[in-house]
Amino acid sequence: MAELAGTTDRRIDALLTLLAENSTIVVSGAKIAEEIGVTRQQVWRWIEKLRALGVRVKGHPRTGYHIERVPDILVPQLLSHRLRGTSFSRRIHHFFKVDSTNSVAMGLGEAGEPHGAVVVAEEQTAGRGRAGRRWTSEKSAGIYCSILLRPSIPPSQAPLLTLLAGLAARDAAGDELDARPDIRWPNDLLADGRKFGGILTEMRAEPDRVHYAVIGIGLNVNQARMPADLAEIATSLRIETGKAHSRLEILVRLLRALDHYYNQFLAQGAPPVLRRFAEVSSYFEGKRVRITTAAESFTGVTAGLEPSGVLRVARDDGRGIEPVLSGDVAEAS
Ligand code: BTN
Repeated sequence: MAELAGTTDRRIDALLTLLAENSTIVVSGAKIAEEIGVTRQQVWRWIEKLRALGVRVKGHPRTGYHIERVPDILVPQLLSHRLRGTSFSRRIHHFFKVDSTNSVAMGLGEAGEPHGAVVVAEEQTAGRGRAGRRWTSEKSAGIYCSILLRPSIPPSQAPLLTLLAGLAARDAAGDELDARPDIRWPNDLLADGRKFGGILTEMRAEPDRVHYAVIGIGLNVNQARMPADLAEIATSLRIETGKAHSRLEILVRLLRALDHYYNQFLAQGAPPVLRRFAEVSSYFEGKRVRITTAAESFTGVTAGLEPSGVLRVARDDGRGIEPVLSGDVAEAS
C-alpha cells in the first residue's frame, strides 16, 4: 500500500503493537530491533518519541522495555486485527495530527483508494462539522475517523448512509453509558440532551450515481470538559460517566456495527435502517421541533421519515407536511 504523507510510520505502529501485546514482560531492545527490522538505536529513538506522546514505557536498551499502561492510541495493527472479517480491516491510515480526516479520505477517494479505507487521527487541527461549523478535536480525547465507501446507489439514497452510520455510532457508544443515547435527526448523538457525537457525510456523485462517499464520525470520549462556548450543548462519555473509556474498543465496535448496517442496507435497502431509526430516535415521530434551513425557520411536529431518509415535519402554520432534506433540528417547547 502506498504511504500517505504524514501517516504514522508503520514500524512505530509495529513497535507499539509489540509492546502492547507483551505489556507484562520485558522485551529486550535487540529482540524488538530484530522483529521490526531496524537498529537498536532506532528502537531507542522511537521509544523516546512514544514517551513524548505520553506512552509510559519503562526500561532502557540494555535491560529491555515494557509498557506500564497499554496506551489508548488507535494503532492500525491492533484495529485491523480486531476488524478481520469486515470491510474495514485492510487499509487503515493513522495520523498523530492532521487537518481533517474527511479531507484526507476525500483525497483518497479521488485517488482511487478502494472501498473500506479508514482514516483515523489522534488530533485534528481543522476538524469540520456540518453546515461549515468546526469540530473541536482535542488530542487523543475523542474519536476522529472517516470511512471511504463506494456504494452503487444514486445520490438520493446517500442520506441513508448518514443514518446508518449514526445507528452504528450509537450502538458503539451506547454500551458505555447507563442510559441509551438518543439520535437527533439526522445523526447527532445525544446523552441527556447534550451532543457527544456527530457525522459529516461528503461525497462525489453524478446525478444518477455516487462515485464515493466519506462518512466522517466524531465522538467525544475522554474530554474532561468541553470548551466554555460548547459546555451547555456538548458533552463527552467521560463527563457523563465520570470515568475514562477505551477509544480503541469503541472504534472497533463502531466499525463492526457499521459493517453490519451497511451490508444489511445493500441487501435489503432502506426499510431496516428506517425501522431501527424509529426504534432508537425520539425525534422520529411526535416531537415538537424548530427547523432552521438556509431558506427559513419554522416549528412543527415530526412525522416519520421518507424512504430516502428525509425527515417529515407537520408544520404548525397549517401548510401541511414539509420534507426536510437538511438543516438544523432543535427541540421546541
Ligand atoms: C457534526 O457537525 O455533527 C458532524 C461532525 C463530524 C466530525 C468528524 S471528526 C472526523 C471527521 N473529520 C472531520 O473533519 N469531520 C468529521
